[in-house]
Amino acid sequence: MTESQLVLGWELTPTLEPRYWLDINSKSGHQSDLDLVRVPSSSIATHTAIIAQSGSGKSFFLGRFLEEILIKTKCRCIVLDPNADFKKVHEVASAQLWEDASYDILKRKGKLPHESSRDEFNADWSKIPIRIFTAKPPPHSAYGQIQIWWPSIGIDLISDDVEPMLRSELYHCHRFVNAIAHLSEIRCAVKKTSCEILNESSKFLNLLRTGNSDTLRAALQADFNVADLTPPKGAKDLDWIYEPYGQLFGKIMFSQKVNNRIQVAVTAAKYISEPIENFYFSKAREFHAAGIIETSIHNVREARLKSSALPLRLEVIDLPSLQDRSARFLAISSILNNEWERVRREWNISLHGNPQDDNRVPTFIIIDEAHNLIPHTPRNNAENSLREQFRRIIAEGRKYGLFLILVSQRPDKLDPLIVSECENRALMKLNSSSVLTSARTLLGLDEIPSRMIEKCLEFPTGRALLVGPWANGGSKLLFSAARRTVEGGRDLRPEYWSIPY
Ligand SMILES: Nc1ncnc2c1ncn2[C@@H]1O[C@H](COP(=O)(O)OP(=O)(O)O)[C@@H](O)[C@H]1O
Ligand SMILES: [Mg+2]
Repeated sequence: MTESQLVLGWELTPTLEPRYWLDINSKSGHQSDLDLVRVPSSSIATHTAIIAQSGSGKSFFLGRFLEEILIKTKCRCIVLDPNADFKKVHEVASAQLWEDASYDILKRKGKLPHESSRDEFNADWSKIPIRIFTAKPPPHSAYGQIQIWWPSIGIDLISDDVEPMLRSELYHCHRFVNAIAHLSEIRCAVKKTSCEILNESSKFLNLLRTGNSDTLRAALQADFNVADLTPPKGAKDLDWIYEPYGQLFGKIMFSQKVNNRIQVAVTAAKYISEPIENFYFSKAREFHAAGIIETSIHNVREARLKSSALPLRLEVIDLPSLQDRSARFLAISSILNNEWERVRREWNISLHGNPQDDNRVPTFIIIDEAHNLIPHTPRNNAENSLREQFRRIIAEGRKYGLFLILVSQRPDKLDPLIVSECENRALMKLNSSSVLTSARTLLGLDEIPSRMIEKCLEFPTGRALLVGPWANGGSKLLFSAARRTVEGGRDLRPEYWSIPY
């Protein structure tokens, strides 16, 4: 099978103009392959960093890159979108983009697609299942509600308000709720019922307060009775509650699992004081009231069944729709957690399965304004915990086909460990020699000649210098080809700055 080529941009002249478009009669679709900068799909199987100052065309280039990944490969993409740049990514730009495409030699700008028509692009794009997750979704099938399954959040994200001495109690409290949630998921799946996990967990903690550990254990054993819960043979819709070994080892493993969760709950409960219990549940209810936390087994089960029926290829998380930073962090942490668990689970299953049945595809997690989420110096537990999640993906993601694409204007404000693992790098316009110098060191660009790198200081909008596997191990200059989906985040209109109101 021939490898697909991602069309990322246009070849440049020595004066940094897109060569093909200098002829005023040029039309999109009529170029030859030699006018285009194309990269083989296998070359993107690594982490990527796109670095440039604001306004240089990073998000536009990112949009282009994303479109090419989705139409030329089978990969999935998840975009953590801080500026609502991708809020309309399901819409294709109007036909004018193709019909009127031209390069403005004076402004040194132009939106230059490479297909001959909108229809040609739309034929591919309309086949891609897309969902834009936002806090208050408009009534359109492309949008979905951001819903975080409470047990999947990392507890460090809410531990900053608690004295360091008490943080381990908070950890035990979350472990307790996780164990109850897991047991409840099993029971609800077998008995086709539902329950709300915060109430359910509170109920059992109350038993501990009025009795002791033995009271709690007895109540858990009665409520989550193994004999009662053994799933019917071949029950398909139970699959999502199993870990792979549960499926492989069958009934014995299953009862061990239930007993193990009961043991975890009883042990964790011993370490939870009442003040921490109150803090934990009031935090959870606060997020629940804000509408982003899911705590109902029925709802999460429906959501999982639905998402496995229609595997989305592009998921955009509209971060500005979430009220504050802590809600955004919770959402991101939960997404990273779910993805991590998913790729590991699928990897495990594929190890025991037939190679022909292995239909896993690579996943890209795309992070614009990445310095806000993966900072050089975390200021609190929440930032630290999120950075650890990203570090885990950077270090081990490749094995599971999980890759990061980072975009930032401040390489020096990004975690150096993470930046150093990005083999594919793109530099666009940089405004100062000091940023250039730090980018050079942090991105490991020493082997690229100075005169080449220094061009970044003079880049007009849309020019990029690619380095790494996607530039065949060397470096490659390009003019970013047009993003063909609708750009969401809008700048203020220029005339508002220049015309008196
Ligand atoms: N290659 C390009 N051709 C034409 N216009 C572009 C190009 N790249 C970016 N632009 C435009 O320039 C503006 C800034 O681009 P953007 O990608 O938002 O920059 P950044 O993310 O670096 O701040 C946007 O209005 C965008 O449409
Ligand atoms: Mg941007």
